[in-house]
Amino acid sequence: MEFDALIKTYQSRVENALDFWLPNADTHPQTLHEAMRYSAISNGKYMRPLLIYATGDSLGIARESLDGIACATEIIHAYSLIHDDLPAMDDDALRRGKPTCHVKFGEAMAILAGDALQALAFYVIAHDDKLTVDAKTRLKMIDVLSLSCGSRGMAGGQAIDLQSVGKTLDIAQLEDMHIHKTGALIRASVMLSAYAASDQPASILEHLDHYSKCVGLAFQIRDDILDVEGETAVIGKQQGADDALNKPTYPTLLGMAGAKARALELHEEAMQSLSHLDQRAEPLRMISRYIIDRVS
Ligand code: IPE
Ligand code: IPE
Ligand code: MG
Ligand code: MG
Ligand code: MG
Repeated sequence: MEFDALIKTYQSRVENALDFWLPNADTHPQTLHEAMRYSAISNGKYMRPLLIYATGDSLGIARESLDGIACATEIIHAYSLIHDDLPAMDDDALRRGKPTCHVKFGEAMAILAGDALQALAFYVIAHDDKLTVDAKTRLKMIDVLSLSCGSRGMAGGQAIDLQSVGKTLDIAQLEDMHIHKTGALIRASVMLSAYAASDQPASILEHLDHYSKCVGLAFQIRDDILDVEGETAVIGKQQGADDALNKPTYPTLLGMAGAKARALELHEEAMQSLSHLDQRAEPLRMISRYIIDRVS
């Protein structure tokens, strides 16, 4: 199947799962549920679910078994974006080509929509009966996902980001920030999918883990690049936002050519870690390339 068609298949799967798990907008309390749906079911790339399905395909896992974890990671991501856009954080008014959650629903409702989405992600993993794993593996998934979005993962990275405004970080510090704020959830997505396959040799898990670390960092480097080179209408968020807030980024530290070279290097490293997987890992290979070439 062509890459574009495959991506659309994955995206429509997760969109159906989101529609299933998110309470309807006419369910009490309506405005909160409307805000949650507004931000979670939107025209995002659904990158974390794409990685989950592609990992599953590379290991021969039934896609039905992965819908819940794809939904859970996307819900965590949606929550992180709602809070990231708040006036106290990046203060952005545009997201995925639409007003941000707090612009549309007010700040208090946006904070609550983020809170509720975060809780819902764990509810989904606890309740999903299509996830055909034993209770111990389900608990491991909750463990991995919670670590990836807490203070030692995404929320920690966001704290580092906010404390770094106006500062010049060295490359190790910048990498540490990106690995936490974006890399951790991407890594968890790949690994949750891998844990859904029983009896994987430890070496395959290690290769996938390395792949996920590489593409997770590359993903945020590309995000930094698009903040400079992208067009607002295409990226669906305000171009130049990092510069306006004086955020340390890969292009500011390494220059544009340096940032692109680093992203390419990470893609090549990701390819290397997939060299032990067969042709079923082709979608993972194509996603890695897509991550460093994407325009939105
Ligand atoms: C943007 O994420 C924020 C980062 C973590 C870099 P995405 O680029 O995945 O945003 P959507 O979900 O496709 O809108
Ligand atoms: C956000 O990074 C990472 C998150 C954990 C949400 P950015 O602040 O660079 O994301 P955008 O550019 O607003 O999407
Ligand atoms: Mg931010
Ligand atoms: Mg932001
Ligand atoms: Mg950004």
